[in-house]
Amino acid sequence: SLREKFGDRFVVGVALGGRVPDDYSPAERRLILGQFGGVTPENCMKMTAIQPVEGEYRFDEADALVDFAQGHGLQVVGHTLVWAKDERTPPWFFRDGDGPASRELVLSRMKDHIRTVVSRYRGRVASWDVVNEALDDGEPYLRPSSWLEIVGPGFIAEAFAAAHEADPDALLVYNDYNVELPGKREKLLRLLGELRAQGVPLGAVGIQGHWELDRIPLDDIAALLGELEALGLEVMVSELDLGVVPRGRWWADGGAHREEIARTDPLADGCPPELLDRQAEQYAALFRLFVDRADTIARVTFWDLHDGRSWLNHFPWEHAEYPLLFDRDAAPKPAFRAVMGVE
Ligand code: XIL
Repeated sequence: SLREKFGDRFVVGVALGGRVPDDYSPAERRLILGQFGGVTPENCMKMTAIQPVEGEYRFDEADALVDFAQGHGLQVVGHTLVWAKDERTPPWFFRDGDGPASRELVLSRMKDHIRTVVSRYRGRVASWDVVNEALDDGEPYLRPSSWLEIVGPGFIAEAFAAAHEADPDALLVYNDYNVELPGKREKLLRLLGELRAQGVPLGAVGIQGHWELDRIPLDDIAALLGELEALGLEVMVSELDLGVVPRGRWWADGGAHREEIARTDPLADGCPPELLDRQAEQYAALFRLFVDRADTIARVTFWDLHDGRSWLNHFPWEHAEYPLLFDRDAAPKPAFRAVMGVE
């Protein structure tokens, strides 16, 4: 199993959506328990799910996941306390009656949220993705958002301080995507430097790892791992998948061509074997790198259990995807066998 194969080097985890384990078939449960050493809730610990209305916490699904994990000896990653995008934050958070909330109000709501959620799972959730996706993809350093506008850049340090106060033993993570790429990598290092200078209790960086077939920036990933190691930070590959349907054109310039792309579903009838083989080789190359850098990498988490459950089937448009090690029947793909063959 993945757990036996890599477990003494890093935890191999999986993101689970919906209600665990009720929403999973017997074959899926066998896969979870047979292969993985850790779990991340795909959605149920996000602010929009866990506190959709001010003061109304919905802990149901999160409790079920943590109980399941504890009962089976799986590590839990809490994901995520502050997702630095407006559309990922419940609207009430930035409102006060008919007007915008003040800095003080947003900060106190943030601290209450973090305190409530982290202390509930204290000792049972080993690490927290405290802040998610705060870095901008384009020119700006930090992503424009109400977090930034209302609180200022200090919301990041404040979030870490609040999480640390609520559970001093939890490993606290900054999590983001594309941070290995030139441009965003410098911003990540700047952020880590600033947080460190402020004495922020940050223990690890999460590299999401939503890569794409034929476009895995292996050299950039290796370079970033080296830089993070030099800073004494642990690394989590926190949301690994390897989509086979190209998504680059979608992001390239937006606009009308997206409507056209949104109508396409190129692999609706299945994934050709040659693509699955190429995916297998590229997954193996990635795991070779992870094994090489196992001193720095503490965890590698797949973003969803198998192809049929991948978020990429619905993102950024509806189309059949094949990004994981297991197929829609929870059976191993060539990629699984290739990864298991990595020495
Ligand atoms: C995604 C989930 O997989 C989807 O089910 C949900 O609709 C949106 O969020 N970066 C993250 C994850 O940090 O939380 C996202 O998960 C994927 C991108």
